[in-house]
Amino acid sequence: MKLAIGNDHAAVEMKLQIMEFLQARGIEVINVGNDDPHDRQDDYPIYGYRVGRLVADGEADLGICICGTGVGISLAANKVKGIRACVCSEPYTAQLSRRHNNTNVLCFGARVIGIELAKMIVAEWLDAEFEGERHQRRIDMIRKIEETGTLD
Ligand code: RB5
Repeated sequence: MKLAIGNDHAAVEMKLQIMEFLQARGIEVINVGNDDPHDRQDDYPIYGYRVGRLVADGEADLGICICGTGVGISLAANKVKGIRACVCSEPYTAQLSRRHNNTNVLCFGARVIGIELAKMIVAEWLDAEFEGERHQRRIDMIRKIEETGTLD
């Protein structure tokens, strides 16, 4: 499994620790984030877009995006066609976001949660599987909005 990871200056340390956690699980990590916590000119849309692009193009199976709150970077990732990104601050939502919403990008905030909770969230998200059926119908509706701008 290949996973793309991106972050801004607010999340450099957490990104590095999450990378180690992923690699210990045998996951190949593509780091497209910022590695300089002092670079305040880095803007989170760059990294949300990069992660989203890699996932949407099939160059990564999944993505993880981290900024201060997880919000800005998730908004950017979600603008890439085919991306379903969500911000999670606890494992229950992370797990259900895969089982029901088939999220392909997980986001969280390095200024919101600690590293141990972040690892639990990542583990729940990775271990969960999309359940399809009625949930697929709803994903198809989201795709229709994305592609046509309407549900009509
Ligand atoms: C950067 O200071 C901060 O705004 C960013 O990391 C993120 O929290 C935005 O949503």
